Amino acid sequence: MKNSLKVLAVANQKGGVGKTTTAINLATALAAVGQRVLLIDMDPQGNASTGLGIKRVDIDVSMYEVLFREVTLEQAAKKTRVPGLDVAPSTVHLSGAEIELVTARRRESRLREALQHTSGYDYAIIDCPPSLNLLTLNSLVAAEGVIVPLQCEFYALEGLSHLSKTIERVRANYNPELEIRGVLLTMYDRRNNLSEMVAADVRQHFGDKVYKTVIPRNVRVSEAPSFGLPAIVYDMKCPGAQAYIRLASEVIQREQRLYGNDRKKITKRAA
Ligand SMILES: Nc1ncnc2c1ncn2[C@@H]1O[C@H](COP(=O)(O)OP(=O)(O)OP(=O)(O)O)[C@@H](O)[C@H]1O
Ligand SMILES: [Mg+2]
Repeated sequence: MKNSLKVLAVANQKGGVGKTTTAINLATALAAVGQRVLLIDMDPQGNASTGLGIKRVDIDVSMYEVLFREVTLEQAAKKTRVPGLDVAPSTVHLSGAEIELVTARRRESRLREALQHTSGYDYAIIDCPPSLNLLTLNSLVAAEGVIVPLQCEFYALEGLSHLSKTIERVRANYNPELEIRGVLLTMYDRRNNLSEMVAADVRQHFGDKVYKTVIPRNVRVSEAPSFGLPAIVYDMKCPGAQAYIRLASEVIQREQRLYGNDRKKITKRAA
């Protein structure tokens, strides 16, 4: 990667656990503290793009064209209303890429290659689709760390062994650096004992991989995308926005602890 770009994928093949909400608000909070951030929308649902106010009609080139090497990431990137935050948008066409890439050469490394020609950003945050398909595989091959959002509900850990095995496979075959960088508890409900039990269970399972910051269930967070705004812009004071701001500083601290300022990895932890 050029300069000091840090690439983090937000992944969990389970649907509706808060991947996109996390990608949008983490990216926004990082930009708010002066980082130059590119949010890469790898989900054909395009929720990260629309949630940042990018209208479908305004998307001329998307991640589809990037994966087919027709345009660079910089050409696909669009400015958002958040200073310092660009988004490389997706459209439903991206679901076609999944199939069309199957027979292509180096099909799993397309995003990684695109990122190698990208400069000018400190962070790339990748929003993955709810599946372990080729789009997620491209994201994992391109990333150095994975942030795994887990919804505080009974089946939170279900299916995670598939994600872990996929990460293992990617590490063995394409990307030895890859690791789970952090596990994020989302939609935590203080009034619900189950949330507390799930959180304790997850912390037992993942230890200090789990971010101290927990994202509360907060209706303001779920309203924000319909206005095309990150929760942090829509209502900065709401508890969900405040939690994402704390998460961003935890993410930065963790990156610095791992790499120092000159990107030399000082500790290597197993995923
Ligand atoms: N902290 C929160 N409080 C309340 N609602 C939330 C919170 N986080 C996410 N949601 C809502 O939960 C739903 C799922 O969130 P989100 O779209 O971020 O999940 P996802 O994992 O990206 O879903 P998918 O797997 O479909 O891509 C959305 O309606 C979102 O607005
Ligand atoms: Mg999503």
